[in-house]
Amino acid sequence: MKVRRFSEKNLTAEVLHRIRNTKNPRLKQVMTSYIKHLHAFVREVKPTQEEWMAGIQFLTETGKWCDDKRQEFILMSDTLGVSMLVDALNYKASAGATQSTVLGPFHREGAPEFALGANVAKNPSDGEPCIVSGTVRDTAGEPIAGAKLDIWEGGADGLYDAQKGDEMNLRGVFHADGEGRFHFQCVTPTFYPVPNDGPVGKMLVATGRHPMRPPHLHFWISAPGYKPLVTHLFRRGGKYLDSDAVFGVKPELIVDFKKGKDGPSRVHYDFVLMPEKAKKKKR
Ligand code: BEZ
Ligand code: FE
Repeated sequence: MKVRRFSEKNLTAEVLHRIRNTKNPRLKQVMTSYIKHLHAFVREVKPTQEEWMAGIQFLTETGKWCDDKRQEFILMSDTLGVSMLVDALNYKASAGATQSTVLGPFHREGAPEFALGANVAKNPSDGEPCIVSGTVRDTAGEPIAGAKLDIWEGGADGLYDAQKGDEMNLRGVFHADGEGRFHFQCVTPTFYPVPNDGPVGKMLVATGRHPMRPPHLHFWISAPGYKPLVTHLFRRGGKYLDSDAVFGVKPELIVDFKKGKDGPSRVHYDFVLMPEKAKKKKR
């Protein structure tokens, strides 16, 4: 039996050697990078045993907060900027295409389908009325007839429906008309905090951060043959545009929600989807 001498210096190489037979090449690449970066992190930080245990406790606690309504790990990824980084690496908006942003934890499958023009707010107390209109087009400017728009938002109380119960509210699915146009009624978005009563909230406090997101409306727009677009429209002039807790703001997505005298606020936006597959350049 060969007994190797432990060496702090060679430990990383030894762990990497141990996974050399990993069959799946992508898994091997991911694990290699993970081990290298994790060891480098520990070498740099030099945690005490107590500190290492506190880190493990934090991750354990984060897992315990997760269920079908709450995903604390996604929230951690969002608040550390990782969700936006993954999105930026995967969704490169070509010239003229609408920018994407973070999905967030409050999208729900099976939102009610509405006819164009419907109001997604069930109660007058949900917030100030807002009329949203626009078009969905391709990068050549052609309308995408029938494009699906899945939209959701929080109410004036700063909460999403799922934070209050099972009933769906302030969300819905619409389909653009034959000329790619859509319109619906909702409430004017207000700023609100990301869920901050769990471990991620503690991390925000401990690192001197606030949990607020600027006022926004969520969109998930899709159509056959096009890359699905997950994005927001942010209200120009809204609070926290410069310090969004999840780093989701992009200047191109900040728009005017124009307020009439007594009537609803109005916002118009022309979304541009990219084709599913980039066209190959002709030689
Ligand atoms: C949201 O916009 O709904 C959201 C996004 C990321 C984390 C928490 C909330
Ligand atoms: Fe949101």
